Amino acid sequence: MNVEFLADWKAFRLETEHSVYLMQIGKAGDLRHVYYGPPVARDHALFDLSSRIERAFSPYPEGLSPAESPDLAPLEISGFGCGDYRNGAVTFEKENGNCATSLVYDSHRIVSGKPSLPGLPASFAENGAARTLEIRMRDLFSGVRVVLSYSVFGNSDLIARSIRVENTTKQRIVIRKLMSAQLDFHTGNFELLSLHGHWGNERNFVRRKLERGATVIRSLRGMSGSHSTPAFALASPGTSEENGEVYGVMLLYSGSFHAEIELDPYFSLRAAIGLEPENFFWNLDPGESFQAPEALILYSNRGLGEFSRSCHRFLRDHLIRSPWKNRRIPVLLNSWEALYFDFNESDLLRTAREAAALGMELFVLDDGWFGKRNDARSSLGDWRVNPEKIRDLGSLSRRIHEEKMMFGLWIEPEMISVDSDLYRQHPDWVLQVPGAPRSLCRDQLVLDLARAEVVDFLFESISSLLHSARIEYVKWDCNRNLTEVFSSAYPARRQGEICHRYMLGVYELLERILAAFPGLLLESCSGGGGRFDAGMLYYSPQIWCSDNTDAVSRIPIQLGTSLFYPVSSMGAHVAASPNHQTRREIPWELRGALALSGSFGYELDPSHLSPEEKRTVRAQIVCFRKYAELIRCGNFQRLDETFGANDIAAWGWVAENQDEALFFLVRKTALPWWYGPRTVLRFRGLNPDKEYCLESSGEIIHGSTLMNAGFLLLNFGWECECKSFYFRAVREISSGKNAALLSPEVPTSAGIRRM
Ligand code: GLA
Repeated sequence: MNVEFLADWKAFRLETEHSVYLMQIGKAGDLRHVYYGPPVARDHALFDLSSRIERAFSPYPEGLSPAESPDLAPLEISGFGCGDYRNGAVTFEKENGNCATSLVYDSHRIVSGKPSLPGLPASFAENGAARTLEIRMRDLFSGVRVVLSYSVFGNSDLIARSIRVENTTKQRIVIRKLMSAQLDFHTGNFELLSLHGHWGNERNFVRRKLERGATVIRSLRGMSGSHSTPAFALASPGTSEENGEVYGVMLLYSGSFHAEIELDPYFSLRAAIGLEPENFFWNLDPGESFQAPEALILYSNRGLGEFSRSCHRFLRDHLIRSPWKNRRIPVLLNSWEALYFDFNESDLLRTAREAAALGMELFVLDDGWFGKRNDARSSLGDWRVNPEKIRDLGSLSRRIHEEKMMFGLWIEPEMISVDSDLYRQHPDWVLQVPGAPRSLCRDQLVLDLARAEVVDFLFESISSLLHSARIEYVKWDCNRNLTEVFSSAYPARRQGEICHRYMLGVYELLERILAAFPGLLLESCSGGGGRFDAGMLYYSPQIWCSDNTDAVSRIPIQLGTSLFYPVSSMGAHVAASPNHQTRREIPWELRGALALSGSFGYELDPSHLSPEEKRTVRAQIVCFRKYAELIRCGNFQRLDETFGANDIAAWGWVAENQDEALFFLVRKTALPWWYGPRTVLRFRGLNPDKEYCLESSGEIIHGSTLMNAGFLLLNFGWECECKSFYFRAVREISSGKNAALLSPEVPTSAGIRRM
């Protein structure tokens, strides 16, 4: 990890564990992107400013040569309206109405550590093991200062980037557009990888070839949303799990976002990510500053598997703060699919008692416990227990603790029901255009968290709730997106700020709650997995992945999510069969495998289980305890290239020291028995020089055999069939390596028949 200014070339060099990033101050004072990729020397050839491209009809700064056209150069940050006709990163509107924006280098400094960002989620480096470069730029049209910040970390390839605008002038400006990171490439022969879906089917992996023109991935919902995820990757064509170059970009933000990937007519590529400009502008008065959300970038040339593992490690080590990230989380039972709204105190106690008897450790009371809430139509905002269902939360929690279970509670703080005491008292506390039509969703409105008094009120209500009973876990839900984003607390000229101010209000509230209750295990949720992003992970170490609890449907959801986010952050539960969302019958093994491949818990009524099913649940919990550490800390391996889209899917974890590994293999749909299906499963991430014992059979097999020849499974053809493979290393082979066995070219038909 290093950051240097190379004075001879007026260049900056960032060095991570396996990559180098270079920038240079151009003749026009612009900041040019020079290189990002595997390590290169400090070579003058990289920085030679004499051989520039020239192209007919490209504008260039007066007094300089056409070769200095901003339209031709890869730039670190591009403005607007000065001859760079690609998608820009920064636009300031000045008092005279001019929007032309052009940034030139002013000064820089290199500091130790990784600064936090006021009011926003941000990566951190424990013990200061990071270096940060801050480059001050100046807008030629207003003098406004823009500070670009780049941090590199020890033992990681991720680079944290952010942008701060400081109005050092005497005029007010309006920020019309501000991307957090821009990445330019001379040539753009990439495939674009991103995650898309909808309620009940979030974050499916999408790979597309880039064509000339712009591709936009965004959310206008005021939340990151279930339709798109604020992250993408650019991969060399054909990149597989084990081979290929990948550039990744992730935004640490949970509101509306905008990512634009543009291949220009000459096949140069510009990619950028940041706040969605369509519902954003920000007034910056003299002396004020504005901090854009942080973005993370990553270069990896070891395929998608290693790319994902680098992201997982970084998010665990440098973003997730919760003390729970280093502990085995308790096995929870969530009451939602067990009881929905239909319960009283004795139902809850009975369920908790039965769950405890099966080995569960945390009882989570989901929706329906407060106000007069017997369906989704009322009471959001009235965070007081419904005395018709529960006498008081304190005694309920006490009695649940007497059953040797922790207690958790569902809340949806950002929302308000029209039928609520809160709405009757404060009808102006919602996002709405006064006197104009407004939109409902799930019968609810959105509280105006851009208002300080709303954030204060929510902090007081949630704090008194958490003080009123022993509550170790909170599920923080958010069941609709924003509409009619208007706040009557702000003047007309500030209405473009409300969407972002809402998100800042959410972050402030989360920060205050966590500061007051530091041990709280927070699981964020949004109509299932509708706000699963790196911003939220800063506050909650786990996020409910999807309301679709069907284990088969969850394979592409969870594997898609794993492109960027760690498995330990994915809320996943074993639900009843037939499944409540899909009516599909799903065997216990498969339901258990998907829940184990996440935070693990249950979402069913234990009193509906037969004695045999109860034995199965107990055995699953024993398994969870056995594998929890491996799953939380191990290196995640996807064993196929489709992120769960194929009929057969396989994935697993290998311990850092490669002494232990667990894999799951799943078939979604059945094949007729006479078809005689053959499946070869080649494992990944094991040590080819170790011998492993397969726990289920006791057989000893070389790591090289498992990875190169693999297992041949005959008749693995039942619907929803799931097999697990747990290996322990028994011996390290120091000599006598067999070159043929180590060859990765062994044809698939060479799999050894095991089952
Ligand atoms: C959302 C959540 C569910 C459940 C319900 C309760 O849909 O995603 O898990 O909590 O709300 O209303």
